[in-house]
Amino acid sequence: MEKLSGKKKLRVSVFISGRGTNLKSLINFSRKKNSPIKIVLIITNNKKAKGIYFAKKNKIKLSFINYKNKNKAEKKILLTLKNHYIDFICLAGFMKIISEKIINNYKNKILNIHPSLLPKYKGLNTHRRVINNKEKFTGCTVHLVNSKLDSGKIILQKKIKILKKDNENTLSNRVLKIENLIYPLAIKKFIDFSL
Ligand code: GRF
Repeated sequence: MEKLSGKKKLRVSVFISGRGTNLKSLINFSRKKNSPIKIVLIITNNKKAKGIYFAKKNKIKLSFINYKNKNKAEKKILLTLKNHYIDFICLAGFMKIISEKIINNYKNKILNIHPSLLPKYKGLNTHRRVINNKEKFTGCTVHLVNSKLDSGKIILQKKIKILKKDNENTLSNRVLKIENLIYPLAIKKFIDFSL
């Protein structure tokens, strides 16, 4: 850990597979004066992930993990996390399911962001399902990761109203903006209450 104004910064690894808007928001948060975290490692399973740009731009160590063999991939992830003295992990659009091997090593220290009001709409294509079911509200959730998909303890959730004119695309854009806002807030809350 690194000292800043008397306080130790927690060392964070962010896992991504794609666009990386949540990663960008977390990096901005980590760069703020008195931020409680330092992002020291970005892990991706996708060499073409657009979010890699943010790792490079901010000179953060990037580790590519080949998932052809999941067991080997997770062994490499664990080793890399240990080598970087990672305190906790943020999943940000990481499209692989993390198995117990990693979860048990980082018990209650893995966060994920999901684009629905969990426990509703776990899994993929949330916005499409929400629209098809004519829901009035949707939102996003930051939660702890356990061995069941999108099922760990909820840290923070934000609800928004679905507009009549919303389609899958507009809704996903509006929810994404809220995701980018709440992920740093959830981290603050997580650190204050859980660490
Ligand atoms: C977000 O909608 C997140 O909730 C989901 O994957 C998407 C990642 O977006 N788990 P981005 O890569 O952070 O832009």
